[in-house]
Amino acid sequence: MSEQILHKITIDNITLEVPAGTTILNAARQIGGDVTPPAMCYYSKLEGSGGKCRTCLVEVSKGSEKDPRPMPKLVASCRTTVMDGMEVKNITSPKVIDARNGVVEFLLINHPLDCPVCDQAGECDLQDLGYNHGKEGTRYEFKRRTFHKVDLGDYIQLHMTRCIMCFRCVFAANQLTDKREHGILDRGDHAQIATFIEKNLHNDFIGNVIDVCPVGALTDKTFRFKNRVWFTKPVDAHRNCNNPKCCGEAQLWMRGDEVYRVTARKDEWGEVKEASNGKTGWICNTCRFETKKVSDWIIEAPSNINRHSVISQGHYVGVTKPTETFNAVMKGRDPKLLMDIHDESEVNKINIELSSLNRASRSTDFK
Ligand code: SF4
Ligand code: FES
Repeated sequence: MSEQILHKITIDNITLEVPAGTTILNAARQIGGDVTPPAMCYYSKLEGSGGKCRTCLVEVSKGSEKDPRPMPKLVASCRTTVMDGMEVKNITSPKVIDARNGVVEFLLINHPLDCPVCDQAGECDLQDLGYNHGKEGTRYEFKRRTFHKVDLGDYIQLHMTRCIMCFRCVFAANQLTDKREHGILDRGDHAQIATFIEKNLHNDFIGNVIDVCPVGALTDKTFRFKNRVWFTKPVDAHRNCNNPKCCGEAQLWMRGDEVYRVTARKDEWGEVKEASNGKTGWICNTCRFETKKVSDWIIEAPSNINRHSVISQGHYVGVTKPTETFNAVMKGRDPKLLMDIHDESEVNKINIELSSLNRASRSTDFK
């Protein structure tokens, strides 16, 4: 058996060895944290993905041990393989940060800022990127492209206005379903995801396109506008699914005893996780859309949400409560209240103490 060739690569001053043929992005993922470039179109489980969005750009300051010249332009880390002795800069390169800011500005040219009403809010890669690299204002003065919403079958809605043309859903439909269901029509700023002659997407695995969409362009019609994702509690669950391709392992997004949504389980990069039974983590339409009763599932445990998004904020696994420092700092004195909501204010009725209500406030409590 021939020995595996390893290449030494340094990313943001951290050196590691990876097998030849590994991309810079996957090498950076082995380090993890901020050193890993964001990826909006690359998806390790989808063959051919990557190279479209340019959010993963990095600076190669040393090409290799043999040819130490730097690469003249920033390169897409999801498409560039490592060379022995290569040195790469991601967050340590002002050029990369500047370019990424520019890429985000481009992505947002046509993308509406409708996070307050978008179902993807809270788990949207573009929203996260916008917070990290976005600008407050826009320099774009032309008319933006907009599309009508299209129902792709009974379960999926396409809101093309939000699409960033990452191609992930096209690869997912191509690779997970029996026949190609949709694709990209036209080019440049006319390009759009479309089902030819508006044909419905009805394949039993097509629901996975929702999971791979990094933005809110493809949403689950059984969940749309039902809840905000950060109010729901994700739990890991499984069922005995009859579909031989389906792994039967999913994440239930619950509120109380109700299952609001079912998705595949995701890893720290937001990609589907391999199932414990060795199958790929994709789930079938029956598991995703038609089994929404708790009794349909065997619940395992609360999911470990390992993302920096707002979902983990109200989450109850591994939460460390901050220490209350006020008393210590103020030598035992309690904070002085600036407002006392027990008093009648401009909003509540005089006989209603909002803070002592042992229920949610109602419109009748207010003036
Ligand atoms: S619909 Fe979503 S997954 Fe498909 S190309 Fe657009 S952004 Fe990517
Ligand atoms: S993730 Fe590399 S170009 Fe999109």
